[in-house]
Amino acid sequence: MCTYLGVSVRAGVTSPLHPKHHVIRKLLASAAALVLTGSAMALAGCGGNAYASQSTATEHRAAAAEQAHHQRALVAEGKHIFRYDTFGDESFWTDKLKMNDVIQMAVSPKVALAVGLKVDVDALPAAVKQGIKNGTINLDDPATTLALLKLNAVVGLKGTVQDVDGKETLTRVGVTCALCHSTVDNSFASGIGHRLDGWPNRDLNPGAIIALSPAIPDSYKAVYNSWGPGKYDARFNLFVQSKGLAFFTDGQNPPHDRFAVEIPPAYGLMGIDKEIYTGDGDIQHEPVGPVAYWNRYVAVTQMGGQGAFSDPRLVALGAAVPVDNTHGGTLPDLVTPALPALQAYQLSLAAPRPPLGSYNPSAAARGRQVFYGQGQCAACHSGEKFTDANIRLHPQSASAARNTDYVSLSATGKWRTSPLAGAWQHPPYFHDGSAATLWDVVNAYNSKLNLKLTVQQRSDLVQFLKALPHRGEPQSR
Ligand code: HEC
Ligand code: HEC
Repeated sequence: MCTYLGVSVRAGVTSPLHPKHHVIRKLLASAAALVLTGSAMALAGCGGNAYASQSTATEHRAAAAEQAHHQRALVAEGKHIFRYDTFGDESFWTDKLKMNDVIQMAVSPKVALAVGLKVDVDALPAAVKQGIKNGTINLDDPATTLALLKLNAVVGLKGTVQDVDGKETLTRVGVTCALCHSTVDNSFASGIGHRLDGWPNRDLNPGAIIALSPAIPDSYKAVYNSWGPGKYDARFNLFVQSKGLAFFTDGQNPPHDRFAVEIPPAYGLMGIDKEIYTGDGDIQHEPVGPVAYWNRYVAVTQMGGQGAFSDPRLVALGAAVPVDNTHGGTLPDLVTPALPALQAYQLSLAAPRPPLGSYNPSAAARGRQVFYGQGQCAACHSGEKFTDANIRLHPQSASAARNTDYVSLSATGKWRTSPLAGAWQHPPYFHDGSAATLWDVVNAYNSKLNLKLTVQQRSDLVQFLKALPHRGEPQSR
């Protein structure tokens, strides 16, 4: 039988391009060409001619190899975007919030590390590493922070340091995805090490950082300061971004429905059709894909990147969307062209395996029985990703968290069952962080679902959770 596989490649590159995204555009163009060639070959191969089908097979292999090559290049481009691309959000962090002045005046490396910022040891020249070790580099001096920014060594911050009237000056600063979704392995010192992309930075205190801005009135500072480390409210800032600073200075009170949530991992998401705690991200609302939906949301409405975001579901809720930082296309869209590569990179990130010796394998094996049996966990945490996200979302009452009102601010009004691979790595648990440990998670379910698990069963179940992703488990990315 002869089938024709209709594949459409949506380049998503309708708006003017920033030069650095030419690589992506080229990639997409060649990927599209490849699909077309592939289809033409498939049609040619339908004639039943033996010679033709042999050469078709060879060409298919060549095409597959080429596609793999493009995929690798796309992932590499996405990694660069994830780490270093601000999408032009300096207009928010510099022009509006004046964070460049704050950093220059008051943020020494010690202060930066104290609010959870991380330093990439691989960006430090040997002399700097030496100087930090032997104390000749002053970590109490904001000038050192500028030097680190110049080296592109502060994870998630991108600074431009220029000579202004003979003085090193931080003229521009912006943030990247890595700010919240990368940490380091502390191999050099606490807060200084090799990057771990996709690992949520649960030390980072984004609210405390934003509250340093002189542009923010006290009533708002109080809100930002209330979030705490590892937490961020991606709905509160929607109002702030969309109204601009006028919202602050209008004398309006901050919106009262505020819920900062735990920054989630950006790894282990391959094959999951709904993203974020409430499953808002899906292909129906962003053709590039479910991860890209949320990436666009954050890049535009939170980071302040030069792009546009809207979602009719949020409009219906009365949220302050659309947000259009291109001002109707008068500025180039720097977000849309980045999405395919950015998504490809995130989908390439595997959930980290637990360190050897961090759990008891025989207890974990017993815990598996509890997970799939009396614990009823697999009713929702099903399949190789431990989530039923591709089948359904759950009502507000399904969450075992302390406060479940956050769903009301989402596009779906529901919960997505959280995937569990790598759970060992990112306490606390649930969107609100109300379970400090996996033991607390299991106890929360034990009472909520009236499971009547013995202490032994509960501690075995904890060992099972700590062991995910199991060695030999099919899922990793
Ligand atoms: C200021 C902190 C911050 C920044 C910067 C940030 N995020 Fe997030 N991210 C969050 C929070 C908080 C959530 C959870 C939101 C929710 O579920 O309502 C989230 C959710 C996600 C998710 C969903 C994970 C899942 O389990 O479905 C992905 C993927 C993600 N972010 C990727 C990115 C990318 C890519 C960027 C850069 C464009 C980015 N984030 C920038 C804080 C941040
Ligand atoms: C009715 C569906 C359902 C059942 C049954 C269920 N869960 Fe969940 N689980 C969820 C949802 C939804 C969330 C996200 C809730 C939130 O963040 O507020 C979640 C979150 C979690 C988390 C936190 C993950 C994170 O990243 O913070 C863990 C751990 C977990 N569940 C383990 C279990 C275990 C163990 C069981 C069995 C005792 C279980 N779940 C039973 C739906 C379910």
